[in-house]
Amino acid sequence: MKFNFIYTMRWKFLSVFALSIASAFVTAFIGYRLGFKLENVEPFTIPINWVVKRIGSLPVLVAAGFLMFLIYFFLFSRKMFDYLEEITRGLQEISQGNLSYEITTQSSDELGVLADHFNRMTKKLRKSIEEERKAERTKNELITGVSHDLRTPLTSVLGYLELIETDRYKDEVELRYYTKIAYEKTKNLKKLIDHLFEYTSLSDEGIKLHMKKVNIIGFLKQLTEEFNPQLKKAGMSCRLAARDDSIYVEADGHQLMRAYENVISNAIRYGSSGKYIDIRIGSTGGEAVVEIINYGEAIPERDLPYVFERFYRADKSRSSQNGGTGLGLAITKSIIELHGGRISVRSDRRETAFETRLPLCQVSSQEPQKGR
Ligand SMILES: Nc1ncnc2c1ncn2[C@@H]1O[C@H](COP(=O)(O)OP(=O)(O)OP(=O)(O)O)[C@@H](O)[C@H]1O
Ligand SMILES: [Mg+2]
Repeated sequence: MKFNFIYTMRWKFLSVFALSIASAFVTAFIGYRLGFKLENVEPFTIPINWVVKRIGSLPVLVAAGFLMFLIYFFLFSRKMFDYLEEITRGLQEISQGNLSYEITTQSSDELGVLADHFNRMTKKLRKSIEEERKAERTKNELITGVSHDLRTPLTSVLGYLELIETDRYKDEVELRYYTKIAYEKTKNLKKLIDHLFEYTSLSDEGIKLHMKKVNIIGFLKQLTEEFNPQLKKAGMSCRLAARDDSIYVEADGHQLMRAYENVISNAIRYGSSGKYIDIRIGSTGGEAVVEIINYGEAIPERDLPYVFERFYRADKSRSSQNGGTGLGLAITKSIIELHGGRISVRSDRRETAFETRLPLCQVSSQEPQKGR
């Protein structure tokens, strides 16, 4: 807070002091003149004469003046000291843990500045405590979610292995069937643990990105080619459309691949009834815009705001049949945001589209940059 020299405590104190002296002087002078007038008026004559003779008019004047000075000083400095008391009260409250207490900043002197700084300090403290609580809550939720998601497949693996172990199967066909289920469930478990590891390392912000200049068009072309076997198996094909030949972003190729892999594999998994996956790439407003569209069943409107949340699976029964962990899009979102981008989704009966926006690369050279 800015404050004028004239509003400093030192000046305020000096002014109160000077004002008290002046007021005491004026009051004593008026008293002195009044004493003269009342000297000849009964019943004041005798006491006034007695005081003047015994003590002298000067000492009486000085004593009265000093007394008046004290009274004026207390009166004029009251506001200042009241405020000091208010600050002390505020500090006591804060020291006792009441961080919501706000000291009123009513003056622009040092006390006002002090109060303002204290208010800012408590605000920051409040914020960091809230953040810490939120992080703790998130961690607890994650642990609860993970324990639940690990326990469910593990219980069924144990169940099937127990059947095998205690020879409770009819023939080899049934034995193979049980083994297959246990194997599939174990694969899901591994996937969940891998995803979880990925997700926590991403959200720890401890991850180091190795940024390079990436042509997002070439990058996505190559990535979709890698999906050919899965696309074929699902009876689908991928159409890629780009307005330019090259659109460059600065990205960690490995991370970006994982981000788009999750979206494309979702499009195959949940959109196989639609036959096509369309990938449209363009650039606008300094951003590379990638849309990945599938034409399967729509994501219910009530689920849309949550699909990027970890462990969230729209239409839970359908998703669990598909063996998803509900972490794919949470991972994608973290990666895109780590790159300074955004991801959004829209879905209706016609199509489901995931759109990512990444900042365009600032450097215009065609040479890839050195990794950071
Ligand atoms: N293209 C899509 N079409 C329809 N629903 C989708 C699509 N992509 C995601 N969803 C819905 O959003 C949910 C969350 O997706 P996410 O990728 O995070 O998890 P998942 O696919 O269930 O598991 P995994 O961790 O194996 O990817 C899915 O369960 C699904 O219900
Ligand atoms: Mg997924």
